[in-house]
Amino acid sequence: MSLNLETVLTGSPYISYTYAYPHKTAYRSIEPVPLEQIWQSEPNETFLYVHIPFCEMRCGFCNLFTTVNPDSSLETGFLTALERQASAVRSALPNNTVARAALGGGTPTFLVPSELERVLKVLESFGVGHSTPLSVETSPRTATSDRLELLQHFGVDRISIGVQSFVEAEARAVGRSQRSSEVLGALERIRAYHFPTLNIDLIYGLPNQTSVSWLESLRIALDFAPQELFLYPLYVRPLTGLGKLEQNWDARLELYRVARDFLLESGYAQHSMRVFRRADAPSRDVGIAFDAQKDGLIGLGVGARSYTNHLHYSSEYAVGQVRVKEIIADYATRTETDFSFATHGFYLDQLEQRRRFILQDIFNVAGFSRIAYQQRFDSDAVADFPLLAGLLELGLVAISRDTIFLTELGLERSDAIGHLFYSAHVQELARDFEWR
Ligand SMILES: C[S@@+](CC[C@H](N)C(=O)[O-])C[C@H]1O[C@@H](n2cnc3c(N)ncnc32)[C@H](O)[C@@H]1O
Ligand code: SF4
Repeated sequence: MSLNLETVLTGSPYISYTYAYPHKTAYRSIEPVPLEQIWQSEPNETFLYVHIPFCEMRCGFCNLFTTVNPDSSLETGFLTALERQASAVRSALPNNTVARAALGGGTPTFLVPSELERVLKVLESFGVGHSTPLSVETSPRTATSDRLELLQHFGVDRISIGVQSFVEAEARAVGRSQRSSEVLGALERIRAYHFPTLNIDLIYGLPNQTSVSWLESLRIALDFAPQELFLYPLYVRPLTGLGKLEQNWDARLELYRVARDFLLESGYAQHSMRVFRRADAPSRDVGIAFDAQKDGLIGLGVGARSYTNHLHYSSEYAVGQVRVKEIIADYATRTETDFSFATHGFYLDQLEQRRRFILQDIFNVAGFSRIAYQQRFDSDAVADFPLLAGLLELGLVAISRDTIFLTELGLERSDAIGHLFYSAHVQELARDFEWR
């Protein structure tokens, strides 16, 4: 996709979601490198993420690394391999301390309680306990009382549930069959366990969704007083069930504005284009301080990425069901020795690290610290990226001596602005990625 400064203001704001830079489509096979070596000069505080690549349904819009209703041998093979991988990582990083943790997917609660317990034990083996902020993703059908009780007992402080829309027909139109009664029942059960933070994911830009039906979904969500709401613009992505659904970007932009205004009036603060948090929500910054700019991420489970300052690595990425299943089956055959090497990833040189630094924080309302950038790279962000001056001229960013942040106009165009910071090399790798 070719994009320049001018089209950021006039074209579609929905170019790509920069969840992390670079995207997994830029990862390639690398010479095997021992984890010990990768992590030796990294800070000891980390974020631990465990990816469960299973779901009870494959939603038509979703390109996450997951497979639907695996047979039990694939599931058992995955869990046993996860334990081997955890053991390999613990041995390679003996001084590691987990500052925060998350269990995502896929749908972690697809696992039955006894399996979920095995995964929680893996977290525990890294020292994750009641004082560690721990977030778990769930779905309406799998948020059952026995699983929720287990999670509460383990000290999970945040539950995040995908709802997408409270209007049944809207969810169905994007290949997600869920009954309103299931969704409401799940939210009631979650609320009964009093997790300190409840997040609800909703999607806007669904076929036939209107401002009225979108506001209805938002109002129903607020009946459950979630501490957080993640609002995602619908993206139609390669190899997902939605195929070539026509998409109208100005409708999404309008729905974004409707939601933003409604949530601001309803006592929520905006943290980024996608994240809104209730003003009285508890802070999740407890325990060991974690600085996402400096500290690394350890990903366990097939499909999870790991980040250090100079190397991002993971297993191979795919969306098509045949390839996803092959990759999971391959993961299940790996030995502890195999798991002590990274074999697939992306090396970030100094320039890529600068891009990543900016992309890590610029989408947050608070922006990125120009001072921290200067301290880390011994260089000024505005001098390194003339693009920032261009964005300033268009009213998309504000620049002070200390911070650089998106304006209201910039925030709503986050997904186009992010793309401008991608290097030519990363864009080329993503373009050449073979979608399977
Ligand atoms: C791991 S899922 C959430 C938990 C659970 N699997 C579920 O669906 O209920 C991550 C979220 O990403 C969002 N998402 C995934 N693909 C998307 C797409 N193509 N467009 C917009 N949002 C998307 C959805 O809101 C989804 O809830
Ligand atoms: S949206 Fe959630 S339930 Fe649906 S396929 Fe993606 S991860 Fe699975």
